[in-house]
This record gives sequence, C-alpha cells and structure tokens, in this order.
Amino acid sequence: MKHFLSLADLTPEEMRSLLELAIRLKDEWKTGGNRPLLRGKTLGMIFQKPSLRTRVSFEMAMLHLGGHAMYLSPFEIQLGKRESVADVARVLSRYVDAIMARVFSHADLIELAQYSRVPVINGLSDYSHPCQGLADFLTIIEYKGWDLRGRKLAFVGDGNNVATSLLFGAALLGMDFTIAGPRGYELHPGVWAVGHRLATASGSKLVATHDPHEAVADADVIYTDVWASMGQEEESEVRARVFRPYQVNEALVAEARPDVIVMHCLPAHRGEEITDGVCDGPHSVLWDQAENRVHAQKAILVKLLT
Ligand code: CP
Ligand code: NVA
Repeated sequence: MKHFLSLADLTPEEMRSLLELAIRLKDEWKTGGNRPLLRGKTLGMIFQKPSLRTRVSFEMAMLHLGGHAMYLSPFEIQLGKRESVADVARVLSRYVDAIMARVFSHADLIELAQYSRVPVINGLSDYSHPCQGLADFLTIIEYKGWDLRGRKLAFVGDGNNVATSLLFGAALLGMDFTIAGPRGYELHPGVWAVGHRLATASGSKLVATHDPHEAVADADVIYTDVWASMGQEEESEVRARVFRPYQVNEALVAEARPDVIVMHCLPAHRGEEITDGVCDGPHSVLWDQAENRVHAQKAILVKLLT
C-alpha cells in the first residue's frame, strides 16, 4: 500500500488486514492506550471543504499514536489556485511524512499522489470517501460479525462518493449491496464496472433499483447520506424534491430485518434524508460509526507509515 486513494485499490486481503489492525488498535486504545508507533511523524491535512469528523479523527489518531497532525485550511493552500497541485505536492512532501487531502476533484488527489514523495490519503473527493468506507465496515463487522456473505447493505439515496466507497467495500468483503435512488442520480457506470470486477472474486450481489422498498427488504444494514453533497449546494432545492420518496424514516426501517442497523456518514440533514426518530432510535449506530473513524484511520496511518 503506497497511497490510500480508493478502497478499490486494495486486495480483499489488504482490506481485511486493515480492518483487523483497526480492531487491534481500538482494543489497545480502550485498554490503556496505543503504543507510540508514529512517534515523530507528521501528517499534513489539506482541506478544500469543511469537516468535523475527518479533521478531528485524523488529528486524534496521530496524537494517540505519538505523532502530530497539521491542519491546512482551504484559505491557506488554495490548491491549484495560489500554487499548482504538483508544486504543493513537491513542497509539502518535503516537510511531512504523509498527506491527507479533502478535495473537490479526485483528479487533484491523483496528481498530489503522483508528485508527492510521501503517502497521500483521500479524506473525501467527489469520487469516493474510502476512510469513511473503512470505518463503516469496521462498524458493520462489530455488529454483524466477520462473515458478511449473504448479508445485505441497502444504500438509500444519492449515488455519491460515500455510496461508491461502500459498494467497493461490500464487493471486496463479499457482502451484498443494493442502492436505491431516483433516476438521474445513479452511481457512475465506471463505478459499477469496478464493483462488478471485485464482486466476481468475492461473490457479492450488486443491485441498482429505483425502489427504496425493494432495497431495504431483508437488509441487515440501511445506509443513507445527504441528498446534496458539499459543492452541490445550489442543487439543494431540486434534489430535496426529487429525493423525497427516499427518506429513511421509521416506516421504511420497519420493512428491513428486525435487527437492521441504520448508518449515516454524517453530517445528517435531519428531516430530509433521515428522520430524528431513526437517528436517535433503536437501530441507529451513528455515533459508534463516527467514533470508528479514528480507529480505522489509525490502521491506515500505521500501514502507510511503519
Ligand atoms: N463523515 C465525514 O467525513 O464527516 P466530516 O465531513 O465532518 O469530516
Ligand atoms: N456525500 C457527502 C459526504 C460528507 C461526509 C459530501 O460529499 O458532502
């Protein structure tokens, strides 16, 4: 593993070994603290968009492991505007031991990785959100166990960056994946092509539908995300109308398996894609999921830096 840009770059063995490491590091943290595996190491974090979870969980992950993280706000670096992406990569990678970047365009991440001397981590792009995906499968394994074959993840909503990482993760681990969303907001055909390639090896069943009821039938996990992602704010009103039938509410959750868990990467727009009753209800694992970002990212950092 040289960089961490997409879950689809991992082999199933690498995905499992990252998850095993995350579980070990979480356990170690809960029973006295982590060993300083990253003592003296610094992570540079470039943000083109806002963040609560990604920024704080990476900063805490580095701190728990004896290292240091540096937050670089959208105003400071101005990736590609104040300075070219390649020059940012050349310079920053002479200072720090790894770079995490949250960008609008995934192409910028690829360019950063191309010109960086140190590992580059995708902290969310328009294409995917692999750190979120890894933390989510850590959470799913905690609730449902390691054998995910025949288990079903139903994603209800936009065919976006988070859905892409979940499809790749499910296909790597042999879990079935169904996505339900409105016409015109499906996952990109290129994402399906990669997903189907991974699923051929693992046996996952990958399905696209426009019917949320079909998606949640027999689901072990229901997942949703905002209808308008960061950068799509001007589409919010249109999307709020188009996505209305795809709200994850109590009635929809009741159509899944009785022990279904409900997930959301957060931030949630309560009352839009998910109701208060579901967020705060008995099926919600939202806060465990948010916590697991820190443990999953420790595993990524340790793999890349030791
Ligand atoms: N889920 C997630 O990435 O949250 P932030 O946008 O707050 O980092
Ligand atoms: N799809 C959302 C995820 C936020 C963590 C976005 O890109 O804004």
